[in-house]
Parts: sequence; structure tokens; C-alpha cells
Amino acid sequence: MWSNICVLFSLFGCIYSRPNVLFLMADDLRVQLAFNQDAPQQPFVLHPGMLTPHLDQLASQSAVFHRAYVQQSVCNPSRASALTSRRPDTTKVYGSDSYFRTSGGNFTTIPQYFKDNGYLTLGMGKIFHSDTSEVKHSDPISWSEPFYTAPNHKYWKSRKHGSHKAVSRIEQLSHPLPDRQVADKAREALRSMPEGAQSGQSPFFLAVGFHKPHLPWIYPVQMHQHYPLSSISLPNNCFAPVGMPAVAWHKADGFYRYSDIANLEASTDYNATNVLPARIVKKLRRAYYSSVTYVDSLVGELLAELDAQGLRNNTIVTFWGDHGWHLGEHGAWSKQTNFEMANRVPMLVSYPPITNQTSININKPVEMVDLFPTLTEMALSSSLDTCPENSRETQLCSEGQSLLPLILSRGESLWKEAAFSQFPRSKNTIMGYSMKTHEYRYTAWVQRRKNGQPNWNKVKAEELYDHTRDPEENFNRVAESYYGKTRRQLQRKLRRGWRYVESV
Ligand SMILES: *[C@@H]1O[C@H](CO)[C@@H](O)[C@H](O)[C@H]1NC(C)=O
Ligand SMILES: *[C@@H]1O[C@H](CO)[C@@H](O)[C@H](O)[C@H]1NC(C)=O
Ligand SMILES: *[C@@H]1O[C@H](CO)[C@@H](O)[C@H](O)[C@H]1NC(C)=O
Ligand SMILES: *[C@@H]1O[C@H](CO)[C@@H](O)[C@H](O)[C@H]1NC(C)=O
Repeated sequence: MWSNICVLFSLFGCIYSRPNVLFLMADDLRVQLAFNQDAPQQPFVLHPGMLTPHLDQLASQSAVFHRAYVQQSVCNPSRASALTSRRPDTTKVYGSDSYFRTSGGNFTTIPQYFKDNGYLTLGMGKIFHSDTSEVKHSDPISWSEPFYTAPNHKYWKSRKHGSHKAVSRIEQLSHPLPDRQVADKAREALRSMPEGAQSGQSPFFLAVGFHKPHLPWIYPVQMHQHYPLSSISLPNNCFAPVGMPAVAWHKADGFYRYSDIANLEASTDYNATNVLPARIVKKLRRAYYSSVTYVDSLVGELLAELDAQGLRNNTIVTFWGDHGWHLGEHGAWSKQTNFEMANRVPMLVSYPPITNQTSININKPVEMVDLFPTLTEMALSSSLDTCPENSRETQLCSEGQSLLPLILSRGESLWKEAAFSQFPRSKNTIMGYSMKTHEYRYTAWVQRRKNGQPNWNKVKAEELYDHTRDPEENFNRVAESYYGKTRRQLQRKLRRGWRYVESV
């Protein structure tokens, strides 16, 4: 459509203009940004002074997906899924150690697709997994040039800094923060893009993955001033949902192991009496918020560079988080749950020719597997086939849908009625399948057979949250007779899965 406008005729025929892609990611970023405030049923209490001016500005020129869901709420599985447009049951990536090319299949990724289509593809920071040059973390085949890892990532990842730290100006100079290094590298890349990037004759795909707000919350001390402790509120619901099955809980060992947290000897169980003191909870929330504002400032730098290089009009900018984070809601910390707080993420798609006027607010449930077909359609007018039931040998296909019709209709077109996520427990012997519809979240914790298939005759536990009455998910309604019919309907839909979801 608008992208494949033939701009030039030459002896060699027609040269097409193709937009660039700036693919921005943040780690552990929950839906707590001001631009999400307008969404109905916003279940989260926003920090009154949360400062993300650059993302707000980007959102004002974007399609804003207020209900975007990752397919599994932990880094490697979520990223492998989004970047291949296949769900964890296809990538077979459920934990930090797997690599989709060896566990699921040799699938084409988003950047690899653009590279195959003549784009210069550059990656830096945390995209697939940890910020290292190891093959399973950087996926070299996706990039035109060697993947850039932040030299100081290892230094600042060390647990010796504790769970959080406001880094002084002097220390920022002696040991620059990894996200600073990544942003500098990205700006340098934008400044040295080929001349044809502006006209669309030599387009680029630039993926920039920020580490924050992942633990440890290391951020420049300047961010601190925006968040006086007196302005920080505690979560509304410091208790586990009424009727929550134990399997839904995650103990967040990684978080509690930081020495400053470990010294407090708080319990990792739900509804424990010895929980983190309110004063500490506030400090931790402040550190998380400061880290978010830090990432926002770096996103702002990249967008300013894009403008300065005259590239903005011809660049699709996407921004998303790999999963959410519990900051004490339900008494929980970290991700790795099937709750709304862990599965729902900020997501923006901005492309001036269609989203420059005002933000396009979309409230239908969308999934991160939808991003790949969206980008191929927007940039190259090509659609991806839906993956067959067994796609191990199919290099290129999608288990999502292009969001473009939804964007062009400003959220009015027919669209799938549910988003699907999952999380394994008990060394992957149990899978928690979860589904978000307009009104409900329904989760079933199912025993897995030896071949990995769910055994729906062995449903270990269920959860049903009614978001119209209970957006914070404080009451599991699964045992209430009033919800009996709803529960049966939702279980039937969850069991049929994403492939047979209805459009509404
Ligand atoms: C994976 O696919 C790519 C092409 O997309 C190919 O170059 C590579 O050799 C394949 N790797 C394996 C292990 O088959
Ligand atoms: C947790 O505590 C709250 C408040 O006391 C209680 O209502 C809820 O039922 C408890 N949840 C579980 C799963 O025990
Ligand atoms: C983008 O396009 C608009 C409208 O055509 C134009 O006014 C503006 O100068 C362009 N900006 C850049 C950076 O090229
Ligand atoms: C901004 O959007 C309008 C309407 O969608 C379009 O006509 C115009 O060309 C766009 N401007 C730019 C710079 O892309």
C-alpha cells in the first residue's frame, strides 16, 4: 500500500521505497505509564507523578494497545515467542536456558526476515535474551553486523550493588550504565545510516533493547529527584487473592536473594506475616519508577536523533515490554505468574503516515505474536501464513495476526476475542494456560503428558477473575455457582486455544 510506492524508475526497473523500523524494547516494564490511563478498566493505581514524557509524546503519535499480552511472563520465552511469532508450545522455550532454534525449530525471526528482504539489520542491548554475544543470546543469523552488547552490562548486573542503587554522577562517568552505552551506540548507528535510509531505498531495521527496569534497579541519581518518598504509595492489595490456588504463586527467589532484601528475612510465601516493611516497599517502588524514567529519557534521545536525521517520517517505531512486574501487589514480587500484572505490557506502534494525528486507542486484547505479521504488512505489504499445527519444519509463518486492520479501523474491525498466555510450574509437569477476554481472566493449571501435551482430564486448579467487578484480581470466582456457566464456557475456549478463537 503506502509503503510500496514506486519512487524512481531506472534502467533496472522500479525501486521501491520501504520504511525503516526502530524496534524498541524495555525489560520488566509493567503497564503503569500515563498514556495507558485512558484505557477503561485500568486496573493499576498509577503513581501520581510517574514521569515518562518521551513515551507519552510517542504515544500521542501511535496506535496504543491498552490490552497487549505477552505469551509467557519471563524474558527468554516471551522474547523468543514475540520475535518468531510462535507461542511457547511451538518454540518449546519455557525457561532461560533454551534456544528456540535447537528446542523448537530453525524459525525465521523478525530481524532476520527484514535482513532477508534487503534491510540493514542491527541489534544491540537485550533483544533475544541476556546481553551477551553467546549465540543463543544474540542469534547472529538475525543481524547484518555483529550484535552489540553493552561492555558494562556484566559489571552492573553484579549482585554486589544490591537490588537497587541511585548511581552518583561521578560513578556514571567511571562506570557508564549499560543502557547509556546502548543508547549511545544506537544514536551513533542512526547518525551513520546509509543515505538511502531517508528515501526508503536502503532501509534499516534497528533493534534497541534496554535492560531497565529489570533488577538490579541501577539508575542515574538525577532520576531520584522526581520521586520523593512521601509521594510513593503502597499497593492496594498486599494479599493473595481469595481462593487463589497455591500453584498460582511464584516465590521470586531471584528477588529475595539480593543481600539487602535477604537481610530483612521476609517470607517468600503468600499471605505471610513477616513481609517486607512498608518503608522498604516504598523505596523499591521508587527505584523501579526511577529506572522507568531513565529508560524514558533514553527513548527520548533516540527519537530526537531520528528527527535530527530526518528519518522520522519514514520510520515505523515500535515500543514494547517483554512482560510486567508485581511491585508488591498480592504481596508478590517479580513476574513469572499468570496474573494480569505479569502478562500485560505497554505496546506502541507509530508510523507517521497513519498515526501522526492523535493516538489511536485500541482496547481489544492483542498478543505479542501479532507484532511480526504487523511489521511485515506495514513495511513490505506482505502477509505471513498462519502456522500449521506442526510447524517445526516451517521456517516462516505466524501464530498471530497483523494488527494493521485494527489500527486502520481505529480499533473497530473484527478481532480475536481473547489473548492467550501460559506459565509452567513444577519443573514443567504442570502448565498454567491463561486467557484474557474483554471481561475475564480464566486460568487452568493442567497436568502435562510425557509428550508435553496438556491432559485436560487432569486440571489441577482453576482461577477466574471478573475484571468488570475486580480489576485487581482479588477474588478467584471459580467456586462461585453464579459463575458456573461462564467458567465452563471459558474453559472450553481455553482448551480449544488460539487457533479457534472467535472474532468479535
Ligand atoms: C537455519 O536457517 C537458515 C536460513 O534461514 C540457514 O542459513 C541455517 O543454515 C539454518 N540452520 C540450521 C541449523 O539448519
Ligand atoms: C490472603 O489473605 C487475605 C486477607 O486476609 C484473605 O482474604 C485471602 O483469602 C487470603 N488468600 C489466600 C489464598 O489464602
Ligand atoms: C515530515 O513530513 C511532514 C509533512 O509532509 C513535513 O512537514 C515534515 O517536515 C517532515 N519531517 C521531516 C523530519 O522530514
Ligand atoms: C499524517 O496523517 C494524515 C492523515 O492520516 C496524512 O494525510 C498525512 O500525510 C500524515 N503526515 C505525514 C507526515 O505522514
